[in-house]
Amino acid sequence: MIDQNLTLAVVDLFKSFTQGDQTLTVLDGVNYVFELNKTYAITGVSGSGKSTLLHILGGLDEPTRGSVRLFGKNLQLCSQQEQNIVRNKQLGFVFQFHYLVKELTVLENVMLPGLIAGEDRAFCAQRARFLLSMMGMDAKEYMYTTKLSGGEQQRVAIARALFNKPAFLLADEPTGSLDAENAALVLDLFFKARQEWGMTIIFCSHDRVMYEQMEIVLQLKNGRLEPREV
Ligand SMILES: Nc1ncnc2c1ncn2[C@@H]1O[C@H](COP(=O)(O)OP(=O)(O)OP(=O)(O)O)[C@@H](O)[C@H]1O
Ligand SMILES: [Mg+2]
Repeated sequence: MIDQNLTLAVVDLFKSFTQGDQTLTVLDGVNYVFELNKTYAITGVSGSGKSTLLHILGGLDEPTRGSVRLFGKNLQLCSQQEQNIVRNKQLGFVFQFHYLVKELTVLENVMLPGLIAGEDRAFCAQRARFLLSMMGMDAKEYMYTTKLSGGEQQRVAIARALFNKPAFLLADEPTGSLDAENAALVLDLFFKARQEWGMTIIFCSHDRVMYEQMEIVLQLKNGRLEPREV
């Protein structure tokens, strides 16, 4: 019996996009329960809806129908403010295309989730430096993110996602812009974070070397989430 209070679940999830008179149904009845402290990979061909699903899981997009339940609570029924607090505290998000704040330095970008949560500035700076050093990015803390390479920006985005020790890390192709060595480093860091505070990893990837290291490998196909065919 799964304790609903320790899960992130999607229930009868549908998502369609309408453009002109064309409607594209990307998610066509997705049901799944992600359990705390497990590791999941979501695979599927380009355009199958991986990013769409991850954005809805993270509350960054609304489903057309259905719900997302975090720790048994239906996020669609919470106020925007409640959703923002939950998202900042419990979910870490690494996007397929990094969204760093270009007006802020590397260090400030990583501190941001802590500052939003009202943490002390000195504490935030200390934790941000620790995460940046784990990512091999400590020498660049005072740089602006537009001056970094794609892979470096991704590492900063990952450090930021881990800042609040999220219960669930939602990572959309987090190693897509990294070389094999840095990709392995990132995965290693995810696993360390999981060991340290029991973080669940939900990871979208085309890369077999990466996704096969996850305990549960799923695929999106025809709008449904199912165990990956081998
Ligand atoms: N805002 C939007 N408006 C219209 N169509 C959209 C929108 N977002 C996504 N789509 C469409 O939904 C489908 C799924 O897109 P999604 O980005 O989720 O795919 P993906 O599996 O992440 O692909 P990739 O592997 O290339 O990243 C695509 O056909 C895409 O064009
Ligand atoms: Mg995608």
